[in-house]
Amino acid sequence: MRRKLLLGNWKMNKTSAEAKEFALETKELVELASKNNIDIGVAPTYLSLAAVKENADKRMIVAAQNCHFNDHGAFTGEISIPMLQEFGIDWVLIGHSERRAYDNETNFKCHEKIKALLANKMVPVYCVGETLGEFEAGETKDVVSAQVKQGLEGFSAEEVKDIVIAYEPVWSIGTGKNASTEIAQDVCGFIRNILRELFGKVADEIRILYGGSVKPENIKAYLSCPDIDGGLVGGASLKKESYEGLLTNIL
Ligand code: 13P
Repeated sequence: MRRKLLLGNWKMNKTSAEAKEFALETKELVELASKNNIDIGVAPTYLSLAAVKENADKRMIVAAQNCHFNDHGAFTGEISIPMLQEFGIDWVLIGHSERRAYDNETNFKCHEKIKALLANKMVPVYCVGETLGEFEAGETKDVVSAQVKQGLEGFSAEEVKDIVIAYEPVWSIGTGKNASTEIAQDVCGFIRNILRELFGKVADEIRILYGGSVKPENIKAYLSCPDIDGGLVGGASLKKESYEGLLTNIL
């Protein structure tokens, strides 16, 4: 049985003080999620990780939005896994479409990062999804298949059993044009089949999230799809009220 997972991706939003305030005011929500066997978390900016980690309920998952695959070195502007571990961070988003679009994050680079995270027993949330052009050209499954296969190539079933995959069609991110539940389930089921091909039975333990204009009003419909285990939520995770709505609507 896969536990539901609600993860907020704050992107480049919230100062450290704002992040601390959110962490404090959502303590009861984390308690509520925990009582209902739901995992809940947020991915703040690097500079707010410590504020959230220190002030949130200890069961809150606190994820970084990126990491480098080297432990140290001449990589100006980057943050390494040991630096995250120093703050108790063990979840990291990998390959978000905004990083793929603006920071040249390729499937190969994602693979290197996932490899480094798995070697450190950390949890990658590997983001995949097609652009609008690819969607309109009917290439969704080719694109997603290449992202999943290249990103996860060569790992063992034991290594990948705790990873999370997030399917986020790029055309649905921040646009208000969320994918229909039929599309989301079709692609998430397709992803699970690829995982089954690659890793066998363990595919049934791996959580797959949908992301892209998820709101309190539509989250329940996604979570009722057989292959969707949770949501990766941008805009609607920023305010306590809507974060609370996301949770209470899937209890
Ligand atoms: P929105 O929920 O704002 O569409 O963002 C989705 C997303 O990119 C989460 O990673």
